[in-house]
Amino acid sequence: MTTFPTTRLRRLRRTGRLRALVRETRLDLADFVQPLFVCPGEGVVRPLEGLPGIAQRSVDELCREVEEASALGVSSVLLFGIPEEKDDEGTGAYDEDGIVQRALRELRGRFPELVLMTDVCLCEYTAHGHCGVLEDGEIANDLSLELLARTAVSHAEAGADAVCPSDMMDGRVGAIRTALDEGGFAETPIVSYAAKYASAFYGPFREAAESTPAFGDRRGYQMDPANVREALRECALDVAEGADVLIVKPALPCLDVIRAVRERFDLPVGAYNVSGEYAMVKAAAARGWLAEREAALESLGAIKRAGADIVVSYWTKELARWL
Ligand code: PBG
Repeated sequence: MTTFPTTRLRRLRRTGRLRALVRETRLDLADFVQPLFVCPGEGVVRPLEGLPGIAQRSVDELCREVEEASALGVSSVLLFGIPEEKDDEGTGAYDEDGIVQRALRELRGRFPELVLMTDVCLCEYTAHGHCGVLEDGEIANDLSLELLARTAVSHAEAGADAVCPSDMMDGRVGAIRTALDEGGFAETPIVSYAAKYASAFYGPFREAAESTPAFGDRRGYQMDPANVREALRECALDVAEGADVLIVKPALPCLDVIRAVRERFDLPVGAYNVSGEYAMVKAAAARGWLAEREAALESLGAIKRAGADIVVSYWTKELARWL
């Protein structure tokens, strides 16, 4: 290997065009997914304090938002629902006439080409805010599976292109695959949050989805942020159960996990640039402490560089304007 003065890496950094020519990672809007929150009512746009630029919207307003995002070139969205009522069984999650199901039917009719993905979890629908149902004060894994599978099937029936289980119950991918196949949805992919950590960076989302647990925390089912080998085991199990895409969540605190999953598996890998990652940059930018656009582009670029094919990000719509 030659060294200085023969080798001068600055030669290729001299102009913008030269830098572009040798750039290793690029952002392509086609890889990005915009999360959206749908709530009951009409004409409702409820901005979220912890997620500037993001709002809870009733179905009519959601359609307007999607219209705008689509016109900008956004191709995929991920729906989260805030139901009218919550109960111990999370009934709103799998109700045929639930909030996400209604939004799906409306969006499916109006935007036939939009990729419609849905979060499959019970936490927005249970009165206690946990991702599964309770039995003797514990989150009951196997009892929750049937309800999660019903939720996924009801989303597919209402027009979802892909379902994204984020509950972290053991065996849910297999249970959902079986239920989808039996329900006539063999073609519906499962985008699994295979490695989802019990992260402090979900804070603003819980305000947005009104899903803060009423007691305890999620460490009994979400992964310990200290572990990476365990993430690979989670992924291997999800692959065996029939996952079509593996998602790592959160993204920036887990770039090494994204890389490890990328190297071990040949499935498409996704990463969820979560609410706290977005909120931190928004908050600092609002104080003039950093430049939002540059910080966002650098963050999203880092997630791609780590190996993600698909990125779920609250910046997706803004990214469409920036690119
Ligand atoms: C719920 C779910 C959560 C997020 C996505 N799906 C929250 C949680 O597990 O507490 C977090 C997303 C974000 O922070 O942007 N199953």
